[in-house]
Amino acid sequence: MKKILLVAAAAALSVGSFSVQADGGQMYSSLGCSGCHGAGGKSAIPSYPSLAGKDAAWTVKQLKDFQSGARKDATMNAMAPMAAGHEQAIADYLAGQ
Ligand code: HEC
Repeated sequence: MKKILLVAAAAALSVGSFSVQADGGQMYSSLGCSGCHGAGGKSAIPSYPSLAGKDAAWTVKQLKDFQSGARKDATMNAMAPMAAGHEQAIADYLAGQ
């Protein structure tokens, strides 16, 4: 519930005042992605892949594959649905890091 409120707050704050890249960055941290993948997608933990600088289309596909179960990982199968509707914004943000 706390997480849902945070996401709603981030979405409300972002309306009209930030670029797409800022929205993606906000989603990336408010959804907790940065907790594993690091600030700006630069992971300091070997078991969590770095996402910075990856091709945005590739990142979107990984997220969709985790959502559908085509790509299996217990953690990401649980996390990816939270990014639904924001895959492109998050991927664009990460590609620019
Ligand atoms: C609890 C830790 C954790 C959180 C939180 C998390 N991830 Fe991940 N993520 C992982 C792990 C572990 C993998 C590697 C899965 C595998 O080996 O297939 C991964 C893989 C990925 C990949 C594929 C990277 C690659 O090199 O293949 C993407 C893209 C990704 N995560 C995006 C996200 C996004 C976006 C969020 C936030 C919605 C997120 N992750 C939240 C742990 C996490």
